[in-house]
Amino acid sequence: MSESKRLAGEKAIEYVEDGMIVGVGTGSTVAFFIDALARIKDRIKGAVSSSDQSTARLRQHGIEVLDLNATGPLSLYVDGADECDPHKRLIKGGGAALTREKIIAEASQKFVCIVDPSKRVDVLGKFPLPVEVIPMARSLVAREIQAMTRGQPVWRQSADGAGVVTDNGNVILDIHGLAIVDPVGLEQAINQIPGVVSVGLFARRPADVVIVGGEPPIVL
Ligand code: 5RP
Repeated sequence: MSESKRLAGEKAIEYVEDGMIVGVGTGSTVAFFIDALARIKDRIKGAVSSSDQSTARLRQHGIEVLDLNATGPLSLYVDGADECDPHKRLIKGGGAALTREKIIAEASQKFVCIVDPSKRVDVLGKFPLPVEVIPMARSLVAREIQAMTRGQPVWRQSADGAGVVTDNGNVILDIHGLAIVDPVGLEQAINQIPGVVSVGLFARRPADVVIVGGEPPIVL
């Protein structure tokens, strides 16, 4: 599994062009991409990061991390996913970084998604759908999503039993038991609930390219 992730991360380097500012996602697959990016760091202007975790890794490698407000639109965003369907629509947010990931994906001309083969599905929803929520709205949003989808919202806890807090100071609800037949519709509907910051469905803005790690990697 980790070898597939490494192969996907390394393949994505082919999309990096000289002088680029590269949007960088979050997760174990992206960590391999960051390590590969470090080898060509003198050819790029810097990176825009989707999480404190990725920022730390980029800086460890001496890659400058820039503010999206200062860079303007990006040419390229590279990120992983928890699930990917045949239309390159994704579930993301297993690493709780979905909101900043969505912002950078929206700001980018090309979104290259890097996954291992286990992430490919026909219908999204077996992986619990992450939703980032303002803390005071947690119960309200859980009730509304349950009524809307019949899925089961679960407040994400960290290993020490405390509620996970995102880089933006919010909480995560993971919606279990979904089979998402209309990802664009569900993304819009969940986004309408007051208190929802963002939902980890990337359907309105799917990936443009999906690299499935393997020997050789498959490019979809
Ligand atoms: C983080 C994400 C990640 O891209 C997703 O969870 C995949 O992670 P990994 O590459 O570790 O399997 O969306 O919020």
